[in-house]
Amino acid sequence: MGLFITLEGVEGSGKSTQIRNLAEFLTARGIQTTLTREPGGCPIADKIRTILLDAENKTLSPLSELMLYAAARAQHVTEVIAPSLEAGNVVLCDRFCDATLAYQSFGRGIDRGVIENLNRLACQGVSPDLTVLIDCDASVGLERARRRINATAGPREERFELEELSFHQRVRAGYLQLATEQPDRILVIDGAATIKDIFASISTQILTRLAEPLRAVR
Ligand SMILES: Nc1ncnc2c1ncn2[C@@H]1O[C@H](COP(=O)(O)OP(=O)(O)O)[C@@H](O)[C@H]1O
Ligand SMILES: [Mg+2]
Repeated sequence: MGLFITLEGVEGSGKSTQIRNLAEFLTARGIQTTLTREPGGCPIADKIRTILLDAENKTLSPLSELMLYAAARAQHVTEVIAPSLEAGNVVLCDRFCDATLAYQSFGRGIDRGVIENLNRLACQGVSPDLTVLIDCDASVGLERARRRINATAGPREERFELEELSFHQRVRAGYLQLATEQPDRILVIDGAATIKDIFASISTQILTRLAEPLRAVR
């Protein structure tokens, strides 16, 4: 079995920036790496992603939103994550189950137990070995995310960026609570640091986790 690593954090915390660099870093070291993201990661789940992130979908109910995330995840785990782990790859996933708890439970207020059950069902026994939470002030992250959206061509995936600041503050607090509850799995990194310093912290941690299997290969 490979190693399953997820990156989490509020909008604009730097997840996609770091995960791209990490995939390059691991691949350059000859480590078979699968880079993927949620919502999405395979064609069917990508179609669900467009519904979830389209700012035109103002009336999407919290419950529909939750179940669309679960549907996309079930497909993504089946098609991409589980087979990649079975092949022995390091799987880097930009957001996963913790995002559903942070956004749909702490953010939207849906019962946590319901979401945990749904996550379990969608994950089909797969769970992250390591989760990197890039902790970032919600307004700093939103400002970065809005700048990125304005500078990027293509569809504006901004349904969440348009939520009020207090929503994103609840999401951040939720993530931090999850990290307090599961300190062995969730590593908290200060998102206010430079891109370079954050990368150095995360890559060091990942190499440490990989040290055992790497030794076995040599
Ligand atoms: N540590 C950082 N400091 C300053 N700017 C950052 C940092 N990390 C990322 N950015 C910039 O902020 C924007 C959002 O980053 P991104 O990686 O897309 O965040 P996320 O995927 O978490 O929403 C990008 O333009 C990126 O270059
Ligand atoms: Mg991103």
